[in-house]
Amino acid sequence: MELELRINGVIKSLDVTPGESLMKVLRREGYVSVKHGCETGECGACTVLVDGMPRPSCVMLAAQAGGCTLMTAERLGSAQHLHPLQEAFVETGAIQCGFCTPGMLLSAYALLSQHPHPSEEEVRDALSGNLCRCTGYVKPVQAVMCAAAVLRGEPTPPVSASSTDEGVARGRELRVVGKSEHNVDAIKLATGKPIFVEDIERRDMLHGCLLTSPHAHARIRTIDVSQARALPGVHAVLTYQDVERVPHNTAGQAWSDASPQDQYCLNDTVRFVGDRVAAVAAETPEIAEQALGLIQVEYDILPIVLDPRRAIEPDAPRLHADADGIYNASRNVAAHIQAEVGDVDRGFAESDLVVEGEYSVQQVQQVPIENHIVITYWDEDERLVVHSSTEAPQHVRRIIAPLIGLPPRRIRVVKPHGGGSFGMKQDVVLEDICALLTIATNRPVRLALSRAEEFSSGRSGHALIVRLKTGFKRDGTIVANSMLLLANTGAYGMHALSMLRNAGLQTLPLYACPNMRFVAQAIYTNRPPAGAFRGYSAAPGFFALESQVDEVAKRLGIDALELRRKNWLQAGHEHVLARALAAVEEGSKDEAGQVIESCGLPQCLQIVEEKLAWQEKRGQSSAGRFRRGVGVALAMHGSVGSGVEMSEASIKLNDDGSFALLVGAADGDTLLAQIAAEVLGVSMADIILPTSDTDHMPFDTGGHATPYVSGNAVKRAAEQVRQRVIAVASRMLNVPSGTLTIEDGIVTAPAGQSVTLAQVASHSWYVENQPQIMATASWKSKGQPPSFAAQGVEVEVDTETGEVRILKAISAVDAGCIINPLITEGQVEGGAAHGLGYALCEEMVYDQQAMLLTTNLSDYRIYSASDIPLLKTYLVETNEPGGPFGAKGITDVAFDGMAPAVANAVADALGVRLWQLPLTPERVLHAIHAHAAKK
Ligand code: FES
Ligand code: FES
Repeated sequence: MELELRINGVIKSLDVTPGESLMKVLRREGYVSVKHGCETGECGACTVLVDGMPRPSCVMLAAQAGGCTLMTAERLGSAQHLHPLQEAFVETGAIQCGFCTPGMLLSAYALLSQHPHPSEEEVRDALSGNLCRCTGYVKPVQAVMCAAAVLRGEPTPPVSASSTDEGVARGRELRVVGKSEHNVDAIKLATGKPIFVEDIERRDMLHGCLLTSPHAHARIRTIDVSQARALPGVHAVLTYQDVERVPHNTAGQAWSDASPQDQYCLNDTVRFVGDRVAAVAAETPEIAEQALGLIQVEYDILPIVLDPRRAIEPDAPRLHADADGIYNASRNVAAHIQAEVGDVDRGFAESDLVVEGEYSVQQVQQVPIENHIVITYWDEDERLVVHSSTEAPQHVRRIIAPLIGLPPRRIRVVKPHGGGSFGMKQDVVLEDICALLTIATNRPVRLALSRAEEFSSGRSGHALIVRLKTGFKRDGTIVANSMLLLANTGAYGMHALSMLRNAGLQTLPLYACPNMRFVAQAIYTNRPPAGAFRGYSAAPGFFALESQVDEVAKRLGIDALELRRKNWLQAGHEHVLARALAAVEEGSKDEAGQVIESCGLPQCLQIVEEKLAWQEKRGQSSAGRFRRGVGVALAMHGSVGSGVEMSEASIKLNDDGSFALLVGAADGDTLLAQIAAEVLGVSMADIILPTSDTDHMPFDTGGHATPYVSGNAVKRAAEQVRQRVIAVASRMLNVPSGTLTIEDGIVTAPAGQSVTLAQVASHSWYVENQPQIMATASWKSKGQPPSFAAQGVEVEVDTETGEVRILKAISAVDAGCIINPLITEGQVEGGAAHGLGYALCEEMVYDQQAMLLTTNLSDYRIYSASDIPLLKTYLVETNEPGGPFGAKGITDVAFDGMAPAVANAVADALGVRLWQLPLTPERVLHAIHAHAAKK
């Protein structure tokens, strides 16, 4: 049918099918600012203005928009003439991955068109239909308030992060490091440029689709694809009978991978609802869907097991036959790890108080707003090109090469700008099967997960049961602790071993305890597989540890903050558990003897104590229906996996004096550009960051704390380039190299003679006949210097409904040298907001047959702008000697402590402790009633 639409001021006559969504039509017409984050009108990424009102275009038929006036973010402003809203989003640091940004901008535009003087609450309401996983909404709300003032013609104060001295890092005057430069991609993202995988178009592209298992455990008895293959428009149907059987692990982790090799591209056995059964490539998504319906599968249903405690019993259903890397297949134990320091049993015997508890943490999803998406095609050299939303392009190439039968040199993985990951995109989830469809059809293929598929077939954070026991002297000195951990890895063990390792290593050593025991197992069950998740399972450990420390303080009659101060890890202490783990593992020797060189915990806790008004508010809960309490938790998080993560960076000087900076996995590239610009004596505008691509980029393990790992490689490469620049300039100026400085792209001698970097480049090439001035440097992690955080919340609990309301949430984070205060603050806010959802509402819920019930963004709720309280962030600068300019990675530490801080605040409010996350109203109410019944 033909439809007339006025889009961005232009009348267009479009041919649409009756059932087509407005989102699909707009994207097809090139309005790529309209993003696809779900299909149910819940995320807001596809927001457009329809006659001035924000509408989710994914649930609106194009036909319904006939005669309407539509506006997309492309209309707001261009890079040369940004709308005040776009400008405010760029300047305030409101744009991180930017996938949600166009939709948010339109919602804000609609608000300001109607209400030029909105209150903050009205702004939050207006943005509540636009989910953002990165920012915690603090800066987007601030951006809208700023833009409103600009539009009203009022002066606005310059935007800066709240808590650091700009431009001064560790007492050194720095020009670029330490400044709140805006995200290097912010303008592209604010103007809706095509920079995500979903924006890529290829001629003759086919559409891939996956048939997934409706059963949690079954063997495929027969599979008949003849009707599907015969359907006109279908070009390939693949089952386990069509692909090589190559055992592998999909985790994008450093080689060699110690996790089990328990997966196959397609298999005759399915182990969770959502496991792959078959793949189709067809001319249109509709034909591909139709073909899936024509595949006939008969299953032999196998018994299932969902509880890891049941799964380790000898008579439990078994998920895997023995395979490479499985610790004990007969007991469903995918991985096992243990380490001990001192004499734990004697420590408990010598303790005056021993407290023991079991803490349960739910399975959760990362929920980046951009779903997994891959596009594959053959290039003109018969090489397979993979455009993927992955975090780890180098690992994707290594992992898929044997699966698709091509040597790595015939595979090129390109990683365009990513729409969030939080660990989810560290795994190969679609790349192998999409590539196989291209190989089968000789056509480009696009394969993407829907939001529902993302929940059922993507990756998630492990559910864990933590049994923690601690022993203290009467004066509050910690003597012994022991953590036994059972992790539910689901059907496959892709991150089983490394996740276990992290869960203990990152948490137990927070307190300098002489006797520590850590025993952990990852157990197979028939749930969707768990993978990398924000904090990499440190958060469950902190939930247990920090809940228990509060409990101990109460029983000993010691202030909970004083108890922490008495026992916490300090600079100069050795990370003893790292040493013990290194002793029982091969390949981790780098951690032996690691000493903590920087620790800002004292300053962080001091800030939280003051800002939370701890002394006045702790233990002051009243007896009414609404009870208030405050809680605090500490956290630490290693900047990197020791001895396994590495990065390389290449920098080359161009003939105009700019520099190309090539880094393997370039998330966090603003900070890397700042590091390079600082060393090279240029501005941010002189640093060019090409898209990550395995053909051009040096190696990088990806998925790590970027400023620490890649930052070190960038700094080294920049220093080498700087030396070469100086050497050429000294010959040009005939002065000793040691006297030269570089500033604003000009090399200057003490007497004032100077040459530009462009002149240096030309002189080097054309006069000295030297190769291009460039350098590559690498950096491999040694030790894992932690960032630290203290987090505090004030809650109000409704004792009649069980609802917990967060009144205040404070994060004080030791981030080493803060390369970019605004961006760092935004990351902390995002982590803290995510942590609040983890504490209170996020949970993957199943029925008895392991069918996931939370498959959309209403049932699996992540917080919107109107749910989040005011998040306050304080950055504490320390100097980490191993970090670039003293920096550390802070990606996850602000997530880790939020759940125990909330649990401690609820315990303070109610006098009742909860042992299971999330603290849903049902659980809180149940705990209140159980406590009352005991009295
Ligand atoms: S894509 Fe339309 S609301 Fe999510
Ligand atoms: S910036 Fe909002 S989802 Fe990433």
